[in-house]
Amino acid sequence: MTTDLLAVTPEIIQRYNRPGPRYTSYPTVPVWSEGYFSEDYAACLQKEGLNEKPISLYLHIPFCRQLCTFCGCNKNITNNQDIVERYLDALDQEIAGVAKLLGVRKKIAQVHFGGGTPTYLNHSQLRRVVEMIHSCFDVQEDGEWALEADPRVTTNKQLELLYELGFRRISFGVQDLDPAIQQAINRNQTVEQSWRTLETARNLGYKSINMDLIYGLPLQTRQSFRKTLEEVYKMRPDRLAIYSFAYLPGMFKTHKRAIREKDLPSPEEKIAIYLETIRFLDEAGYVMIGMDHYALPTDELALAAKNRTLHRNFMGYTTLHNMAQIGVGVSAISDFGDSYWQNTKEIDQYMNEATEKKLIPRKGMILDEEDLLRRDLIETLMCHGEISITDFETRYKIIFQDHFSQAWKKLEQFKQEGLVKLSLEKIELTPVGILFTRNLAMPFDRYLEESANQHFSKTV
Ligand SMILES: C[S@@+](CC[C@H](N)C(=O)[O-])C[C@H]1O[C@@H](n2cnc3c(N)ncnc32)[C@H](O)[C@@H]1O
Ligand code: SF4
Repeated sequence: MTTDLLAVTPEIIQRYNRPGPRYTSYPTVPVWSEGYFSEDYAACLQKEGLNEKPISLYLHIPFCRQLCTFCGCNKNITNNQDIVERYLDALDQEIAGVAKLLGVRKKIAQVHFGGGTPTYLNHSQLRRVVEMIHSCFDVQEDGEWALEADPRVTTNKQLELLYELGFRRISFGVQDLDPAIQQAINRNQTVEQSWRTLETARNLGYKSINMDLIYGLPLQTRQSFRKTLEEVYKMRPDRLAIYSFAYLPGMFKTHKRAIREKDLPSPEEKIAIYLETIRFLDEAGYVMIGMDHYALPTDELALAAKNRTLHRNFMGYTTLHNMAQIGVGVSAISDFGDSYWQNTKEIDQYMNEATEKKLIPRKGMILDEEDLLRRDLIETLMCHGEISITDFETRYKIIFQDHFSQAWKKLEQFKQEGLVKLSLEKIELTPVGILFTRNLAMPFDRYLEESANQHFSKTV
């Protein structure tokens, strides 16, 4: 995907830069029901056990040494090793409980350690977690092991150990390399730390090394971010995730307390940073994969985007299709069959319940046929930037324009503004429309009004 940046006017940006979901799931998390879902979850896991396909396992390791004030992840800042050990005990119980409900030794095609900071764990703790997985599941020979790592706390020895344990994909948090900006977000990370971890990982043989950056952080300007990009370009990671800063003072106390709104780039400056980033990366040879994600043309994700085999899930874009994803750990999300589940976000509650062998997701949703159709449609739009109307009509036995009559009216409006091309056969995002993919998916979201009071970040 490339973008005709000249066609992006300030008016379009003003009109569309409004709160909206990122659609890592549809329906989005805020509309799932809240409650106590142990029985429903158990029943769905038992059903999933009958499915012979391998699964993807996500483990949430919430611990971090220090708080980055911009952070929107579910994290726990601690130096208390007792809590960490208790958490691992709970995780052990939860993994065993899930495996028991699945009823068979399931095959695993993908393991992902996310956080927080998985490399917060020491060697024996990392070994222990990997052992928990092997004791309950059969990880395929070609299974993909991935993790998120903070260069400030990740040692070369840890990278060696993780490689030995099977990890081949790694994602490093960088965010921004400017010391003043780092100061403003309480994340001091030297360029050398980023270089060291990247080069060590590369020399060890890790592939698809990713770096996370964020645009829209306090004190950032076009010039400052360009410098960060130039430095990152020298490192040439295989993938880059460049997120829009989700500033949510109503949701995160640290955003409210520690980030002054007046220090944030203006909406115009933020969008200018974004556009310049796309231009820079295009010239640097990176392919835009979809929202926020870029990859070198030889990377598997870029190839999948080209071959239209790209998919999207909670962890972003992936080449794995239609694979049950089971999440364990505090706040972890599961996505399998026709259901979504989320564990409690409270670490004490999680540790107490999991150690008592209770599995109680606090949020959940079973999708009906209409949800499944819309999920498919939104994912297709997010991954491929176009929808084959005829394909959807055949597969779901609908008359597209009748079924989505309200959405179609919105699409007509988008067409006038040059964001989509519409025909009876397909809906196709224009290069400018690609920048507003989230907005273009929103008319197909039947719960948007219901979730209107929830906290979403701005779409750009
Ligand atoms: C779990 S962290 C990555 C691993 C590790 N904890 C670290 O910081 O290096 C996941 C990523 O989410 C992104 N992120 C966190 N909070 C965000 C926010 N408020 N807006 C946009 N991106 C955010 C950051 O880019 C971060 O690297
Ligand atoms: S950005 Fe990473 S290291 Fe910083 S608080 Fe969030 S999860 Fe922890």
